[in-house]
Amino acid sequence: MSHHNLIEEFKEFIHYSIKKIIEQRYNKTDRLSQAIKYAFQGQGKYVRPILTLLCNRTVGGNIFSAAPSALAIEMIHCYSLIHDDLPCLDNDKIRRGRPTVHVQFDEATALLAGNALLTDAFQMIQDPYNEDFSNETNKSENTLEIYKQLFLAAGSKGMLHGQMLDMYWTDREGISEDTLNDIHLHKTAKLISAACTIGALSAPCCKEDVLKFTKLGEHIGMSYQIIDDILDSNSFLGKTSNKDLKQKKSCFPLLYNKETCLNIARSHINEALECLKNLSTYDVSPLESYIKSLLLRKL
Ligand code: IPE
Ligand code: IPE
Ligand code: MG
Ligand code: MG
Ligand code: MG
Repeated sequence: MSHHNLIEEFKEFIHYSIKKIIEQRYNKTDRLSQAIKYAFQGQGKYVRPILTLLCNRTVGGNIFSAAPSALAIEMIHCYSLIHDDLPCLDNDKIRRGRPTVHVQFDEATALLAGNALLTDAFQMIQDPYNEDFSNETNKSENTLEIYKQLFLAAGSKGMLHGQMLDMYWTDREGISEDTLNDIHLHKTAKLISAACTIGALSAPCCKEDVLKFTKLGEHIGMSYQIIDDILDSNSFLGKTSNKDLKQKKSCFPLLYNKETCLNIARSHINEALECLKNLSTYDVSPLESYIKSLLLRKL
């Protein structure tokens, strides 16, 4: 199977699984379920769950073992976007080409739908509630370690630390490159890194190699955020264009010109590809071509 087809297959699998979760859990008429459903079925690129499934496959894992965690990560990501768009944070009105959750519903509902997705994500791992995932293979002996990875990536030492710094440095002058790296690492790269780590943890994989996936994911995450910031001036992202500039967000394009930003993103991709060299006992070629495609997206 070509690498492209494999990624498409993963995408379809994730899309289908999300549909199933919605049918089983959120296909209700109450307002909270409706808002969760609205957010969760928005067309995302599924980068994080794809990375989980890809890393899992790379080390010889079973897709059904990695699926509950992959979907939990997408739920956490969805929560982070709902809250990121709230008026008290980035005050965004468009996400994935549609009105944001607080615009479509209201602020209170968006806040609670975000909290619900975050909390339910952890239940998702423990009780996927899907017969496809309910076989023996998903009973990973690493479940506790998987939880730990998610707590750390999403919590006050992870994404929320990054989001806090991001807000502090909005419309404030004098940010250093180190602080900007710190923001990107925490608000974005930690969760992407956890997605890779958890993919490996959902398969029989030695500790030493799991750590290599963690490092790999950090570099993917850093380049992903830098490229997203470079692309911020475009309308095809399904978000308000030029938002960072309008809000005076501290980001790489504020510090450097486009070519320099691209070079920084490229250097992270190269570091990621170096990490792959240390994993050469596996067939890393599908992962390699996916990482390269992330760098090239729409540039
Ligand atoms: C948006 O993430 C926020 C960033 C970290 C850049 P994505 O660009 O992965 O969002 P979706 O899920 O595809 O909409
Ligand atoms: C998003 O960063 C990071 C998280 C949601 C944790 P941004 O604020 O730059 O993402 P967009 O541009 O709104 O997608
Ligand atoms: Mg933000
Ligand atoms: Mg934002
Ligand atoms: Mg942005």
